[in-house]
Amino acid sequence: MRMLILVFLTIQTTFSKIVESDILVNDLKNFSNKRRSEFISLDSVSRSKRQVSTVYPKWTDKTLYYIFDSNISDEKKALLTTAMQRIMNNTCIRFADGSSQTNRVKFTNGDGCASYIGMIGGTQPIYFEDTCMLTGIGIHEIMHALGVYHEHSRYDRDDYITINLANVPASSQSNFKKISSQESYNPYSFEYGSTMLYSVNSFGTGSMSAKNSDYSRTMGLRKGSFLDMKILNTDYDCSCPSDPGCQNGGYPNPNDCSQCLCTDGFGGALCTENAANQVTFTASNTYVTKSINFGLNQTITSFYQPSIAIYAPSGKTIQFRFTSLSNFYCMNGCNMNGVEVKYMTDRRITNPIICCFDNDLWSRLYSTTNNPLIINLHTRVAVQSTVKFQFRYI
Ligand SMILES: *[C@@H]1O[C@H](CO)[C@@H](O)[C@H](O)[C@H]1NC(C)=O
Ligand SMILES: *[C@@H]1O[C@H](CO)[C@@H](O)[C@H](O)[C@H]1NC(C)=O
Ligand SMILES: *[C@@H]1O[C@H](CO)[C@@H](O)[C@H](O)[C@H]1NC(C)=O
Ligand SMILES: *[C@@H]1O[C@H](CO)[C@@H](O)[C@H](O)[C@H]1NC(C)=O
Repeated sequence: MRMLILVFLTIQTTFSKIVESDILVNDLKNFSNKRRSEFISLDSVSRSKRQVSTVYPKWTDKTLYYIFDSNISDEKKALLTTAMQRIMNNTCIRFADGSSQTNRVKFTNGDGCASYIGMIGGTQPIYFEDTCMLTGIGIHEIMHALGVYHEHSRYDRDDYITINLANVPASSQSNFKKISSQESYNPYSFEYGSTMLYSVNSFGTGSMSAKNSDYSRTMGLRKGSFLDMKILNTDYDCSCPSDPGCQNGGYPNPNDCSQCLCTDGFGGALCTENAANQVTFTASNTYVTKSINFGLNQTITSFYQPSIAIYAPSGKTIQFRFTSLSNFYCMNGCNMNGVEVKYMTDRRITNPIICCFDNDLWSRLYSTTNNPLIINLHTRVAVQSTVKFQFRYI
């Protein structure tokens, strides 16, 4: 059965002179304490010994074989299949039926969201209880099974996050062991938006925080970032003999070397075209205000990710700011809905995600030479969110 989900992406336009008092009161929902376990996968709390060890083997032939435990629901199968499909679409890694294989993953119900690191031989479980029902958590666990450690275990993590072991229960402290450079390698910089990073204070108040506080709410995001996929391609030697000329941070798609894998907001063979579900604007030299509504009519387990692209004449700087954001769920990880202004020069990395109003991130004036400027929207909940914003070029 194919489920139809109605998506909203509508634009309202008003041209007006913007003054500070146009900033509206935000409709802030209180979500921080609700069903927290759904959004952070504390997958090594009770299994720390399995997480930290010597380097485990990769799956041979770049293929992970898997089976589902007999009592896994169709809904969970569909979610995990989507997670695997997402990885297949973006890497040369394949997932295949493991019924007659010796080395394989068995997706099982219950006992947290958890996985071993790498292929350990024989039938190895991925635990996926009902609270794990987010596609990004599926990607997280499968990435462990493919050999990827947590972002907060990187040996360079102290440059990005602060860990205060005094605030971590003794039984959980092993989660913060660093994986040495002998046991692991880091092809790309630490990413706050990685699906492999836990959220702020995952192990108790004051346990873990972002050194760059702009990223406090981003930590724990469960999307599966562009760089998460790129790490897999690097790790599994998925490459192309040449680059067809990928733009905007894209790189050749190992599944079809004439096409590129694009950063968020871009599409087309060379990442020079608009992504799907994108609204485009052209900036002028005076501020223009626009409003966009987006949403779903039912809550789902994957994100609907429309985006906004703002173009300016070449060589100009784009200035952008929100004047109001309505119907966002404030929570660590922004795993209900959120917005991301991609102002940083490197288009590959996740910029700070906004779903709260507890700092100036949402009302800040962003200036960037990125042209177009991409603003990512994401939601998986049955509410209509509204973003109102203004932009110009200078
Ligand atoms: C959402 O919209 C689709 C398509 O219009 C419809 O089939 C479905 O019943 C709607 N779901 C809900 C929960 O309203
Ligand atoms: C929001 O959460 C805080 C902290 O848990 C609580 O003190 C406050 O009463 C909540 N506000 C609403 C409107 O529920
Ligand atoms: C599913 O089956 C496994 C055995 O394969 C069992 O341990 C587990 O309790 C079952 N879970 C549910 C939710 O029925
Ligand atoms: C994978 O790619 C196919 C073909 O472009 C697309 O239809 C499908 O939605 C993608 N699936 C995921 C989970 O990204």
